[in-house]
Amino acid sequence: MTQAPIHSIPTTGSAQWQAKAELFDYRQAANPVRAGLTEPIPLRQWDPALHQSGPTAVVPLDLSNELGCSAPATSPGLSANFLRIEPGEGLKAAANATSLLFYVLHGSGSLKRAGTPQLDWSAGDLFVLPAGEPPLLTAKATSVLYWVHDGPLLSHLGVEASTARFEPTHYPAALLQRELDQLLADPSSARSNRLSLLLANSDLPQSRTVTHTLWAMLGVVPAGAIQPPHRHQSVALDLIIDCDPGCYTLVGTELDASGAIANPSRIDWQSGGAFITPPGYWHAHVNSSERMSRLLPIQDSGLHTYLRSLDIRFSGGLQGNG
Ligand SMILES: [Fe+2]
Repeated sequence: MTQAPIHSIPTTGSAQWQAKAELFDYRQAANPVRAGLTEPIPLRQWDPALHQSGPTAVVPLDLSNELGCSAPATSPGLSANFLRIEPGEGLKAAANATSLLFYVLHGSGSLKRAGTPQLDWSAGDLFVLPAGEPPLLTAKATSVLYWVHDGPLLSHLGVEASTARFEPTHYPAALLQRELDQLLADPSSARSNRLSLLLANSDLPQSRTVTHTLWAMLGVVPAGAIQPPHRHQSVALDLIIDCDPGCYTLVGTELDASGAIANPSRIDWQSGGAFITPPGYWHAHVNSSERMSRLLPIQDSGLHTYLRSLDIRFSGGLQGNG
């Protein structure tokens, strides 16, 4: 329900200072995150069919209408996109953003950007770029990349990104796989239902995040795993790298007396698909298939960590995050 402010006086001349001034009864405005005002972030899922055919294009996972954002946005602060690039073609990943993160779902190619050495990328690579010229991504083979940036946050602030806060950084697939294999071989991993690598950058020692605003995790969910719920105030834009049918995430706002999620929504995973986990929601990943699955959640946890507002909590103690 829309309620008028208790003070709103149209004025002219020097009194224009008051033209936009409003006052609300505290009870009308103390919690503006509600339907019809500041829209809550919805549960949403995107099908891999979005990138499995078609021309070279940026495919935004766009909730801007629902969220009231002026440009494509997947959450209030982040934009997630699929990039599909045909062989021999190029695409400029243009965004006014402080952090651009790319994960190569499949294919291979190169990245060129003024002032930065060329990067050759292939499937399983992840790389991040700070503010600067739009990078040109050119494909050798048909390629699909997951691209997340923080442009919507800058649009909200009304600012242009001007300062690079970290060095461009590449996490090659072979490095990620080697580290993941070491984790899987660790004797303590046999008892864990959550095995994940958090990607970090030595320019950002305090947050231990992949950029100063973004957080990235390469995680595996072993066959048969049922993870205990956890929650955090960052939003998660989850990419499913690969899975068999039977993998899903349970999501809900409350825990029951046993520590399970009460009346959860179930999001069934699809290889190459994506979904959103809203801030503050309890969530738990389950793999009832017979094969290990892999996921890549991207969050705005770098920003939340800086603001000390991450508020991550685990049902039944620390088991992992994602
Ligand atoms: Fe999470």
